[in-house]
Amino acid sequence: MSTASFFQALAQSPIPPDRPLVIQTWAQTLDGSVAWPDGTPLLISNPESMRFTHQLRAFCDGILVGIGAVLTDDPQLTARYGAQRQPQPLILDTHLRLPPHARVLQHRRPPWVLTGPQPHPRRAQALREQGAHIVPLPLTAEGRVDLAAGLRFLRTRGIRTLMVEGGPTVHTAFLRAGFSDWLAMTLSPRLLGGLPALRPLVPSLHASLPVLDPRHWTDLGTDLLLWGTPRL
Ligand SMILES: NC(=O)c1ccc[n+]([C@@H]2O[C@H](COP(=O)([O-])OP(=O)(O)OC[C@H]3O[C@@H](n4cnc5c(N)ncnc54)[C@H](OP(=O)(O)O)[C@@H]3O)[C@@H](O)[C@H]2O)c1
Repeated sequence: MSTASFFQALAQSPIPPDRPLVIQTWAQTLDGSVAWPDGTPLLISNPESMRFTHQLRAFCDGILVGIGAVLTDDPQLTARYGAQRQPQPLILDTHLRLPPHARVLQHRRPPWVLTGPQPHPRRAQALREQGAHIVPLPLTAEGRVDLAAGLRFLRTRGIRTLMVEGGPTVHTAFLRAGFSDWLAMTLSPRLLGGLPALRPLVPSLHASLPVLDPRHWTDLGTDLLLWGTPRL
């Protein structure tokens, strides 16, 4: 298998009628860590993994992160390494905690901020002044942005392929809700004992665990790309 087979499989995946095709991706160490234990970001990927991640960004119509990742990493959410195409940056942010100086607001495609039904007027105004598009959506019983409603909205706005880049809270929510069509992890052959890639996915010890089926892997230099479809 190669990364070309991965992109070919994505290109051949049917797009669901009521939501985008969802591709979850993260970079982890062998022990499943995605950051330092307290959440401080650190570079996990090698250059080949970085290139792959940017290729995947350029393939997708939208790239989504949670406000947690924005507050810790301050990502630009651009596709680099010579990408011809920029995905729409999307942020899940129930309470509009996105700082008006966040780097993603410099993106040439201003971000869409998926938020609660009654956005805080002053924060919303400050973000609009920086170009952000505020998208009010219903909340779940847990008081977070309703993913199903968010995904429906994105599909109606032309987002057919969605890369979900994390962090762990957002990845867990997508997997729990069954909205994951593809999972692509880059694995660094290092051990960290850091922040886990996911929170618990099933309610009890006896529940069956999601598995990647089918699953494939390929070398990315010294890293490994593992990809497949998560199924219950
Ligand atoms: N290695 C990697 O590939 C990678 C990639 C990205 C991030 N990271 C790491 O991940 C860490 C941040 O992860 P995190 O888990 O704290 O934050 P996160 O997953 O980026 O964001 C979680 C936040 O998103 C908001 N949210 C809104 N609606 C949601 C919904 N339906 N489901 C889930 N979340 C929703 C919630 O905050 P509100 O309730 O306030 O809206 C929630 O706390 C950092 O340490 C970062 O370095 C690693």
